[in-house]
Amino acid sequence: MNPLKNPFSPGAGSPPPELVGRDPILDQARILLGRVKRKKSEKSMLLTGLRGVGKTVLLNEIERLAKMEGYRTIFIEAHEDKPLGSLIVPYLRTLLYELDRMAGAGDKVKRGLAVLRSFVGALKITVDDVTYGLDIDPEKGTADSGDLEIDLANLFVAIGEAAENRSTALAIFIDEVQYFSEIELAALIMAMHKLQQRQLPVVLLGAGLPILPGLAGDSKSYAERLFSFPDIGALSAQDAAKALQDPANAVGVTFDPAALDEIFRLTKGYPYFVQEWGYQSWNRATSSPITFDLVQTATAGVIPRLDKNFFRVRFERLTPSEKNFLRAMAQLGPDAHRTGDIAGVLGVKVTSLGPVRAKLIKKGMIYSPAHGDMAFTVPLFDEFMIRVMPHFQS
Ligand SMILES: Nc1ncnc2c1ncn2[C@@H]1O[C@H](COP(=O)(O)OP(=O)(O)OP(=O)(O)O)[C@@H](O)[C@H]1O
Ligand SMILES: [Mg+2]
Repeated sequence: MNPLKNPFSPGAGSPPPELVGRDPILDQARILLGRVKRKKSEKSMLLTGLRGVGKTVLLNEIERLAKMEGYRTIFIEAHEDKPLGSLIVPYLRTLLYELDRMAGAGDKVKRGLAVLRSFVGALKITVDDVTYGLDIDPEKGTADSGDLEIDLANLFVAIGEAAENRSTALAIFIDEVQYFSEIELAALIMAMHKLQQRQLPVVLLGAGLPILPGLAGDSKSYAERLFSFPDIGALSAQDAAKALQDPANAVGVTFDPAALDEIFRLTKGYPYFVQEWGYQSWNRATSSPITFDLVQTATAGVIPRLDKNFFRVRFERLTPSEKNFLRAMAQLGPDAHRTGDIAGVLGVKVTSLGPVRAKLIKKGMIYSPAHGDMAFTVPLFDEFMIRVMPHFQS
């Protein structure tokens, strides 16, 4: 059928034709935004889930809701090797200049700029263009101690006061939060704690792989009190069917029930895969309805495409020992496994696996759903590992 009319949208962060199955989370977000704007305390949100379940598109949708509610928004994506400070500073600078241009009395916005200037001064790394553009004297003694936990909290409070001063509210969106270091996460959590204590109109909405199990001590207990962690998972069979059927119906095409069942069986309801199967089935079909047989033909094309793109890019970033670790996990099946069992498959001591496991966690390939357990962050990666690596590498 006409590929130009294909409604499906496989791809990182590509908005789906219909965002199904997420109403409870969107409702929760609406309440959160409504309450914070009225300076009532409410837990911030960190959406957690595996790769390709739709965290980024949800975060984008919540940003849209926030703007409709009158929030100023900032949207950043964390990176493996970019520090939190230099990532966020340019956005805060733009925000403060915007607030500065708004009508309103008081000097909180100017103070926000001065505090931002001292924060930048204390950053080990330089944010050249920002320092250059901040033609204001730093506020000495605030946010310049060099201890991120203290400085970020001071900075956020100054920004929160500036927003309050201009009768507006601020929503900070952070995608891929798992890439922050433990120190950065702790600082972020403490900063939110300070904002909440002072009832300033700032809300944090994050998304990423599950981070809670990796946090320790105080930051963990604060995190549990300050944030809710909605689990973004696969779609139910009914929702997956809706995600396929509704957009197709809108352009006069239908799926046979057996075709929908087959796509659900193959994708297990993971949104990225649902879009991919929908997309390929559409392109291969010559007429409506899309049948079971057609889906099977499409599958022959989808698997190599996934192997070449979605899975392969991740596979190529791995060292041989990391590949063997994942291959051993795959051998044990798709669920979470104890490191001891993985060591057993590889025929090595558990202790020897520590470094490779840590690297795989840092690369976002595996995570720990519960103490001592390891699971894949990429759905269906176990099947891919066995396809791509029938044997262990030496
Ligand atoms: N609720 C949904 N219904 C149907 N399709 C969806 C839904 N949510 C996301 N998708 C589709 O799933 C794909 C992946 O979405 P997205 O990039 O937001 O996932 P993610 O969780 O951010 O993944 P990653 O962890 O790799 O960043 C996109 O093609 C998107 O269109
Ligand atoms: Mg994403």
